[in-house]
Amino acid sequence: MSRGEGRSGRVLITGGRGLLGKEIVEAFHGRFELRVTDREECDVTILPECFREIEGFRPEVAIHCAAYTAVDRAEVEPERAHAVNALGTGNMARVCRERGILLVTFGTDYVFDGMASRPYREEDPVLPLSAYGKSKLAAEEALREAGTEHLLVRTQWLYGAGGGNFILTILGKARLGETLRVASDQTGCPTFAGDLAKAVLKLLDAGARGTVHFSSEGETTWYGLARYVLERSGMAGAPLFPALTRDLPYPAKRPSYAVLSKERYRRITGESPRSWEEAAGEFLESIVGKGGR
Ligand SMILES: NC(=O)c1ccc[n+]([C@@H]2O[C@H](COP(=O)([O-])OP(=O)(O)OC[C@H]3O[C@@H](n4cnc5c(N)ncnc54)[C@H](OP(=O)(O)O)[C@@H]3O)[C@@H](O)[C@H]2O)c1
Repeated sequence: MSRGEGRSGRVLITGGRGLLGKEIVEAFHGRFELRVTDREECDVTILPECFREIEGFRPEVAIHCAAYTAVDRAEVEPERAHAVNALGTGNMARVCRERGILLVTFGTDYVFDGMASRPYREEDPVLPLSAYGKSKLAAEEALREAGTEHLLVRTQWLYGAGGGNFILTILGKARLGETLRVASDQTGCPTFAGDLAKAVLKLLDAGARGTVHFSSEGETTWYGLARYVLERSGMAGAPLFPALTRDLPYPAKRPSYAVLSKERYRRITGESPRSWEEAAGEFLESIVGKGGR
């Protein structure tokens, strides 16, 4: 799979019908023989199901997208988030180690406490504020403890065509004439899941291992993203107001500043991600013809 290795065979995908999973399938289709699984085919919390999938397909690489991603719900069912994220990743890591398979999986900016004043690097200290963040940190630990050959890509603020996301929510509410109050005190970077899927291909081609951060370039707030989306969609006059996170009805704590440094990604691949405005603008164009506007 890496340069010179000449590996280009079978790739198993978990969580393949989720937001990122769908984009991974699209980016990898044609170049690899794919086996796409989701909860029905392979519940990652059940070790024998992980073994069965890996034994049956014998992939060279497993791309583990399956996850519990309901950030606010995780506050009331932290055990479930832990089971899917930590135990599920631990199961995949164990099976991959035993069969000599490279495991690619995904982490989150929510492992950080948001107190930094510059973009977070891979080696910066972690201190998750939410149950979801804790479960994803436990997933990272399970991955490293298993001693599996791996690539962990931490990312943030994903959107794409294959799942519910902030951009579509804002467009939907604005169309209904709803008043929008959006957090202006959380800074991060919106990232198109299709760009992340292509970045995974580039990282694999370059033989990357360990932890790498990837998001679009630049930074904004959720309010900044909402304003951009409305302006680009001809709804600049929609009633949009900045709000403080503490005044919004979200139970889970989020980091106030969680921009990810792409230095390592650039060093490994020799490329820079595109700006979040360019990616979001293209995404908005792409959904116009599909009733997105
Ligand atoms: N979305 C973001 O903004 C974001 C940001 C940072 C990191 N990430 C990480 O990126 C990765 C992909 O996230 P995503 O946004 O694509 O999530 P997603 O849309 O929620 O997709 C996750 C998929 O995993 C499946 N799944 C849940 N529990 C499972 C289980 N026990 N066994 C097998 N499959 C299971 C889900 O199925 P059901 O629909 O049936 O539950 C869903 O198809 C995750 O590791 C996530 O933590 C996402």
